[in-house]
Amino acid sequence: MRTAVVVYSLGGTSRKLAEAVAARSGGTVVPIACARYRAAGLSYARAAVDSMMGWLPAVEVPEADLSGFDAVAIGGPVWAGRAATPVRAFLAARPALPRRVGLFVTFGGSGAEGALAQMRALLGRAAVAEYAAREAEVRAGMPAGLPGFLARLAGQGGQREAAAPAAAAGRAGRTPGAV
Ligand SMILES: Cc1cc2nc3c(=O)[nH]c(=O)nc-3n(C[C@H](O)[C@H](O)[C@H](O)COP(=O)(O)O)c2cc1C
Repeated sequence: MRTAVVVYSLGGTSRKLAEAVAARSGGTVVPIACARYRAAGLSYARAAVDSMMGWLPAVEVPEADLSGFDAVAIGGPVWAGRAATPVRAFLAARPALPRRVGLFVTFGGSGAEGALAQMRALLGRAAVAEYAAREAEVRAGMPAGLPGFLARLAGQGGQREAAAPAAAAGRAGRTPGAV
């Protein structure tokens, strides 16, 4: 199965998770580039304000055609209780995507559910898998919910996926206490 893992990461955590997803699914990491933010100083404030206001920055994605992949995972950090603006900008541009799309976020402690809901709304349909991973868990090694996310992304989610794709997949994908 050909899998692309599209990720925006300011501090490296979401990138680390994306690399784990790619490594375990034989996939390719496709980074979202965004010149508006840097991992330093006032950029954090800018990121937070943009996120709250819904101001979407210009982004660049190297892979032109994602529709040719069997599955695409899309993710990034939670900013101010919302999906990071570069991730929203990517989804808002309505890229051509395959049927199997998974969504993931990394976060410090709160807001993951809202961020995933925002991403789902921009996607315009249910994702086959959703996953929220705490930053500390990603930094410490392989997050516990990752195998479940990978299985559902690959279509091995069994009954839960068939019953209610987004909601069930999302709940099952999180580690206890993650959201
Ligand atoms: C501007 C900004 C706002 C953030 N807001 C939240 C938040 O609302 N809730 C939360 O749990 N973590 C928040 N965080 C923490 C990040 O979601 C977390 O550190 C994430 O793993 C960073 O991913 P990255 O290293 O890929 O950029 C925020 C971080 C930044 C820079």
